[in-house]
Amino acid sequence: MDELAGIILAAGEGSRMKSRTPKVLHCLCGKELLRFPVELLGKLGMTRIVVVVSPANREAITGLLGDTVEYAVQEARSGTVGAVESAASMLQGQSERVVVIGGDAPLVAEDSVRRLIDGHIQDSRQMSILSGIVQVSQGLGRISRDLGSQQNVLGIVEANDDTGRTGEPIEINSGVYCFQADWLWENLGKVGAGKSQERYLTDLAAIAAGKGDAVAAVVADDPDEVMGINTRVELARLEDIQRRRIRERWMLEGVTIMDPSSVMIDDGVAIGQDTVLLPNTMLLGSTSIGSGCEIGPGSVVKDSFVGDDCRVTSSAMEEAVMEAGVDIGPFSHLRPGAYLETGVHIGNYVEVKESRFAAGAVMGHFGYVGDASIGANVNMGAGTVTCNYDGKDKLRSVVEKDAFIGCDTMLVAPVTVGAGAVTGAGAVITKDVPPARLAVGVPAKIVER
Ligand code: UD1
Ligand code: MG
Repeated sequence: MDELAGIILAAGEGSRMKSRTPKVLHCLCGKELLRFPVELLGKLGMTRIVVVVSPANREAITGLLGDTVEYAVQEARSGTVGAVESAASMLQGQSERVVVIGGDAPLVAEDSVRRLIDGHIQDSRQMSILSGIVQVSQGLGRISRDLGSQQNVLGIVEANDDTGRTGEPIEINSGVYCFQADWLWENLGKVGAGKSQERYLTDLAAIAAGKGDAVAAVVADDPDEVMGINTRVELARLEDIQRRRIRERWMLEGVTIMDPSSVMIDDGVAIGQDTVLLPNTMLLGSTSIGSGCEIGPGSVVKDSFVGDDCRVTSSAMEEAVMEAGVDIGPFSHLRPGAYLETGVHIGNYVEVKESRFAAGAVMGHFGYVGDASIGANVNMGAGTVTCNYDGKDKLRSVVEKDAFIGCDTMLVAPVTVGAGAVTGAGAVITKDVPPARLAVGVPAKIVER
């Protein structure tokens, strides 16, 4: 039998998000909300993690998490008790304790849950609740305690039913619990429906207190971590907190961030030491930035790799790669499949897609390079365009090393410009240019140099 099993509740409608996307698939710092508890329970060493889904969001959630977790389907939206019950047949008799967590509370810290579980075991409790003292309770459940010196937990009062709520700060329920497994499975059936016809998991606290079973609430150190997300306002608030944490983590790792509040760094990003992030920069997805770089102002880098000592000035990159010592911008765009080898210089208003620039190649001014291979030390003149699409197919252009492409050259693909060849200004290259030759005119002819 496992020591711990986990249940993640994700079958709610998320109606307060007013969204076609299931709530738990909205992103916080580039990561779906549901991934946070999955990773958290994984870190706590649980091998059995059951995600409770609804018939409506089942496909989207299984599509996201695949077979990294198990699934239970809550057929009718009957509240959080019904959600836990739908995982019962999978987990009964399988673990000593069960940790239940909502799919909408992404900032819960591993340390707090560990402390919750440790205390639960030490004090042989039936139910332990992670709580937090907050200034603004945002409609969350409140922990009710007796007024005696022990301050025992009496129950959890949901905001809608809470007539005794007397101002803030108050102790709220994070929606993270540790249960003695047998006790949980025995007592779930005792919870009746509340005013809203939903059966609240939180009512188990009063059931435990009423029978004299051991129930306690453990206060998390940081009140931010226990806030759940029910609306987009709350999503934005928690994202703001998490973004600040991520920025501070990177600053402490040696990254300079100017005007930090204007800079966004997703959860999955890595940044090297002595890199400077200038205002209004976004590093998104699974981006990796080397050391000694300058990114921004106003750059957006998504799912890309940037080597050491690069500059990305007021430019956008997505699914692109830069080796060391490359610079682009301002106002250039590296699209998927752009690969710039070391020392490449790309100036302003250049778009590159599915193309490789070999070491030392230069394109200083506006133009478009798509489906091309640009050799080492090539100079691409201002206004060069690869005409890579004939209305049906995408076709490749090749410019071999040391070639010099004159301003406003049109490379009508498929075409190859040989090593060391030169094209004249305004040339329209429709046929291959042999190495070291000169091509001029429209359509271009090969002439003596
Ligand atoms: C819940 C708690 C509240 C706590 C708060 C913390 C209850 C009754 N209340 O309120 O005390 O302060 O979380 O964030 O539990 N879900 C299902 N099936 C359902 C209903 C909900 O799986 O039938 C899931 C939701 O997807 C969600 C979680 O359970 O991940 C909590 O549900 P939600 O509706 O967000 O409850 P809150 O009102 O936030
Ligand atoms: Mg919630």
